[in-house]
Amino acid sequence: TLIQGGPAMAEKGNYRHFMLKEIYEQPETVGRTMTNYVDEFRLSADAPEGLGFAKIDRIIIIACGTAYYAAMVAKYWFEQIADIAVDIDVASEFRYRSPVVSQDSLFIAVSQSGETADTLAALRYCKDKGLRTAALVNVMTSTMAREADIALPINAGPEIGVASTKAFTSQLTALASLTLAAGRARKTISRDAEIRLTRALTQTPRLIKEALLLDESIEAIASDLSGKSSAFYLGRGAQTPIALEGALKLKEISYIHAEGYAAGELKHGPIALIEDGTPVIVIAPYDTLFEKTVSNLQEVASRGAFIILVTDETGAASAKDMADEIIVLPNSDSFVAPIVMSIAIQLLAYHTAVARGTDVDQPRNLAKSVTVE
Ligand code: G6P
Repeated sequence: TLIQGGPAMAEKGNYRHFMLKEIYEQPETVGRTMTNYVDEFRLSADAPEGLGFAKIDRIIIIACGTAYYAAMVAKYWFEQIADIAVDIDVASEFRYRSPVVSQDSLFIAVSQSGETADTLAALRYCKDKGLRTAALVNVMTSTMAREADIALPINAGPEIGVASTKAFTSQLTALASLTLAAGRARKTISRDAEIRLTRALTQTPRLIKEALLLDESIEAIASDLSGKSSAFYLGRGAQTPIALEGALKLKEISYIHAEGYAAGELKHGPIALIEDGTPVIVIAPYDTLFEKTVSNLQEVASRGAFIILVTDETGAASAKDMADEIIVLPNSDSFVAPIVMSIAIQLLAYHTAVARGTDVDQPRNLAKSVTVE
């Protein structure tokens, strides 16, 4: 209605869509998330005492949609850095499969709105079983924030675009901070490593700013992608969830069929679908898994795939002749690279949808918050 549309239009400022505005807010929103957890002078992260990181035997992280992919990245972080087992699941499965949970585990719900029905049910299930519960939310007045033992803020500000962007990078930032706090509590990282990783995290607002400078070149690549009917996203390690999120973003707003895959799973099925010109977006910053991902890239390239490589400067220098298009993000510590790579997949989906003329902020059939089953 006009009454709702008026102020909302004003908030969009000079941006054509809320989604684009929210993408551009990320240097600021990620910085704001960090102020809740990171001491930039002492170069260390803090978490509420009540999470009990030193003593728990496992973390169970439950979420839906984009928030689930943030949980999936966190699994890699917590396991590698804090040496703690992490179970993740989508809330709609978790709540009905009678999961076996131990009282020594910490439950974390990740939810932008704090209202998603399935995630709330998962939280209640674990609370009933006597677990310590936390809710990582954007809306601190939400039901999950109230019902969990500990409410963890992301402070990304209101997110209007149905497709989540700034909430995702803020969820990642908060989860990265919690990982560092857990690493210290569990004595799994040295002080030197803690300083290096915390410093890497504090650099993400600057890296995101640099990533946003790629906007126009990504728009040009999106115009090629917008004519396609199907696309694949590949990643390895902590970039696998970014590939899944990239595919989700693209299908949600451009309605192009898109699938994300762990690059190593390629030969177990999806490679059968690669034809001449099939777009494959490969997320591969220069890390310990880079060469492996590049060899998967070559497997699809040799079958005619149209390769869009999303990498960093070092990766681009080493693989420059292997892709049809390259999106070159700034170099970053591999710890925070999933946050930096996210900017590219958001802009790619956004511009592809705009080129196709879809309703970017209100995609068909989707709701911002799913409060019914
Ligand atoms: C809906 C939205 C997604 C969001 C998901 C989970 O599907 O369209 O953008 O990721 O719900 O929402 P939540 O508020 O729990 O993060």
